Amino acid sequence: MEKRKALILGGKTGLVGQALAHEMNKDWDAICPGRNDIDVFNAAQLDEFIRDNKIEFIFNTVAYTQVDQAEDEQESALKLNKKLPSVLEKVCSLRNIYLIHYSTDFVFDGKKNTPYTTQDVPCSQSVYGRSKLEGEKILLSNPRDKLIVIRTAWLFGPFKTNFVDKIISLARRKDNLDIVHDQVGSPTYTIDLAKYSLKLVDRETSGLFHLTNSGQATWCELAFEAIRYAGLYCKINPITSAEYPQKAARPAYSVLDCSKYSMVTGSIPRPWIQSLREYVYNYQQ
Ligand SMILES: NC(=O)c1ccc[n+]([C@@H]2O[C@H](COP(=O)([O-])OP(=O)(O)OC[C@H]3O[C@@H](n4cnc5c(N)ncnc54)[C@H](OP(=O)(O)O)[C@@H]3O)[C@@H](O)[C@H]2O)c1
Repeated sequence: MEKRKALILGGKTGLVGQALAHEMNKDWDAICPGRNDIDVFNAAQLDEFIRDNKIEFIFNTVAYTQVDQAEDEQESALKLNKKLPSVLEKVCSLRNIYLIHYSTDFVFDGKKNTPYTTQDVPCSQSVYGRSKLEGEKILLSNPRDKLIVIRTAWLFGPFKTNFVDKIISLARRKDNLDIVHDQVGSPTYTIDLAKYSLKLVDRETSGLFHLTNSGQATWCELAFEAIRYAGLYCKINPITSAEYPQKAARPAYSVLDCSKYSMVTGSIPRPWIQSLREYVYNYQQ
């Protein structure tokens, strides 16, 4: 059987993009250009690339992801998080090919205390969150059968340094760490996110989805478990967000309800703690 042809934007260097490339390695024919290989803003060049390479699916993980820096660089954040999805959607709808686009839990203000569903009205507190929301809105204002928008959160995984790596590296050098305990989210393994994204594609579904591992945690709990699985000892001092000021406001609560994903695929994402154990054992020993 001929392999499906995909273009993974961000697949050469990004956290999610590389996890997708890894998971698609066997059954897909996926091209992963770097930022110097293709001008993602040039619709004509993209269209030619799609035609020449017979691309049927574009996974867009390219984004402006520096949450604090975005507060000072709104133009750059909007260019990548709003303009790029609109360019991609134009190209994809013209050729009637799939666009799978990633977004974030930071589109919510965190004022709820039960998981956010895809029906909840987003309202972001940060430039980054607002720019991602603008991108989503452009895509979802013109729904198509071949458009999937996936909100995910709190990612850890191989191929690019992330929160879990940083904590384990610090725990090797320090006796104690101050970690924020008053933000609650959905830690998510990029390899699982990639697998679950492909399940949505296999179902030929469309629309907005929330996609994370099951369960919830504070940064403190995530750090504690990562250190424990790494076989290290390091005392964790819980601190408040106010004691760790950051330029951009983060939602105090941003757990995502993935029941729509479960309804469509008939499966439930596995618990984050199980995925964290697999990640630490496989990639951190
Ligand atoms: N990481 C998280 O915890 C998290 C949480 C929730 C949602 N998300 C969402 O998930 C998606 C993927 O995030 P990620 O963590 O994988 O991001 P990432 O690791 O920062 O990767 C972003 C990718 O975009 C590329 N890129 C940036 N600027 C570019 C430009 N001007 N031209 C071409 N390529 C450019 C980067 O290439 P270079 O390496 O060359 O810069 C990199 O490959 C994003 O939509 C993000 O909003 C992430």
